[in-house]
Amino acid sequence: MKFPQFSMLPFLMVVVMLSLSGTTLSHPHWDFLHCLSLRLANYSTISKVIYVQNNPSYLSVLNASIHNTRFSTPATPKPFAIITPLKTSHVRSTLYCSKKHGFQLRIRSGGHDVEGLSYVSEVPFVILDLLNFRAIKVDTKNEVAWVQSGATLGELYYAIAAKTNTLAFPAGMCHTVGAGGHFSGGGYGTLFRKYGLAADNIIDARMIDVNGRILDRKSMGEDVFWAIRGGGGNTFGIVLAWKLKLVPVPAVVTVFTVNKNLEQNATKIFHRWQYIAHKLPDDLFMNVWITKVNSSQVGTKTVQATFRGMLLGGVDELITLIQDKFPELGLAEENCNEMSWIESVLYFGGLPLQSVDILLDKNALPTLSLKAKSDYVKEPIPESGIEGLMSMFLEEEADNAVAMIPAFGGKMDEIPENELPYPHRAGNLFEATYIVQWTKEQNAESGKYISWSRRLYSYMTPYVSKSPREAYVNYRDLDLGINNINDYTSYEQASIWGFKYFKNNFKRLVQVKTKVDPMNFFRNEQSIPPLLSPWKKKGN
Ligand code: FDA
Repeated sequence: MKFPQFSMLPFLMVVVMLSLSGTTLSHPHWDFLHCLSLRLANYSTISKVIYVQNNPSYLSVLNASIHNTRFSTPATPKPFAIITPLKTSHVRSTLYCSKKHGFQLRIRSGGHDVEGLSYVSEVPFVILDLLNFRAIKVDTKNEVAWVQSGATLGELYYAIAAKTNTLAFPAGMCHTVGAGGHFSGGGYGTLFRKYGLAADNIIDARMIDVNGRILDRKSMGEDVFWAIRGGGGNTFGIVLAWKLKLVPVPAVVTVFTVNKNLEQNATKIFHRWQYIAHKLPDDLFMNVWITKVNSSQVGTKTVQATFRGMLLGGVDELITLIQDKFPELGLAEENCNEMSWIESVLYFGGLPLQSVDILLDKNALPTLSLKAKSDYVKEPIPESGIEGLMSMFLEEEADNAVAMIPAFGGKMDEIPENELPYPHRAGNLFEATYIVQWTKEQNAESGKYISWSRRLYSYMTPYVSKSPREAYVNYRDLDLGINNINDYTSYEQASIWGFKYFKNNFKRLVQVKTKVDPMNFFRNEQSIPPLLSPWKKKGN
């Protein structure tokens, strides 16, 4: 039998820790901490796992995975506590105590949610930060890997390349993006025309559901396994780890970059690209970035289209292919570089090509404030439309803006729309993500940058998908609509953004949500709502 005094010991230590730091807490906060400290059982674990406000490390733990400084201001709502579990039982305890004491849980893996939903909430909340869940196990013999959700894509790619240079995983281009959120929304990068999305290549997962059960693919069932691979994070449960099917890549790939500004016919070449890029062989990835740059005349600006791509093959094959299919680009050998696939990760991630060790560095690139929006394009935009798009990039707010435009086609055309929640497959020429950025010091002026992105989005209306105007959930955009924070959100209300992200798959996502989390514990501003109202059920 346990002595009550003994089981209180860890909690009393937390109390001492808090009073030393001057923290004052209300009842639910105490109750939550009491609950969690009893379950974690010893002081040394508690001090490594629970970070409450005023803990000297609280802010550094909070900020370590904030990748949008728009949500890192004194006015940004902060979590009452950040919990950094060391093992699965800690995750279950956090879930149990948050549910019991009425705290919303925000699950954070890489912290790249562009609307900050993994670390900001308007209601009392705690962050479950998976920063200690970063283990990766690569099995080259069976061409599979297990990756925990808190690992970054950079860590995953590094771990694969440490074992082989002829296997890879088809996921995103930014090395600090977390596996947890990225796979939950689909995830794509330089290999997606060949192999599809990251989510298309996930073959099992380990998840904790709202009742604290630890499930794998078999025990969660195919509906839930379908939903967690693209239906958006923080909705169906806490995904601890994913089993990946690795894909073959040649030992040598060829990357290239060709820059064309307005004076060098950028508009016409981009116009032509729209007719060609989605039909090129699936071994070729091709992306266009539109940005404002200095022009050759000192003191003036122009707009540049950067055509960047990768062929799963050698330079000669690439040049022959582009000269045959897209001679307007004027690709020459000096634009190309042969390298290993892992070096291409550095190339597309904007990292120096010296050492792959930089993939393990979460701070290798500066963090800015940003707003993102996305579109899918099914018909080529006329030249006059592209001219207008280009001219918007000459505006003052676009100094640090980019339109990222990867060509679709290839494998994406072959996968049915309902195979996974991500529905944007055949018939898309390309996706366009518009990102406007500014520095943290310019946050007071964020309104002007955000309204520029809204004007750009409005300008693009005639040229992009309609009914619904489709969007990519991984470039989350709260302008599309949000759930009611403290009240039931109807299917009709959520359909406004739900159909944009998921098209008809939204219906199945709602059914799965209703089955696995009917009381809507896992939620955020754009999570899938259940059909039943927990509020109505309680008689409110
Ligand atoms: P974060 O931890 O913020 O999670 C995102 C969402 O998933 C949140 O709602 C969170 O609560 C939830 N979540 C996180 N972990 C979970 C878990 N274990 N279980 C359940 N829910 C969980 N996309 C792309 O397809 N290709 C690309 O190349 C890029 N590149 C890129 C660059 C930059 C700079 C940014 C800011 C974003 C991208 N993205 C992208 C978009 C990226 O895929 C998207 O933001 C992901 O959701 C980020 O996942 P994180 O784990 O980093 O975010």
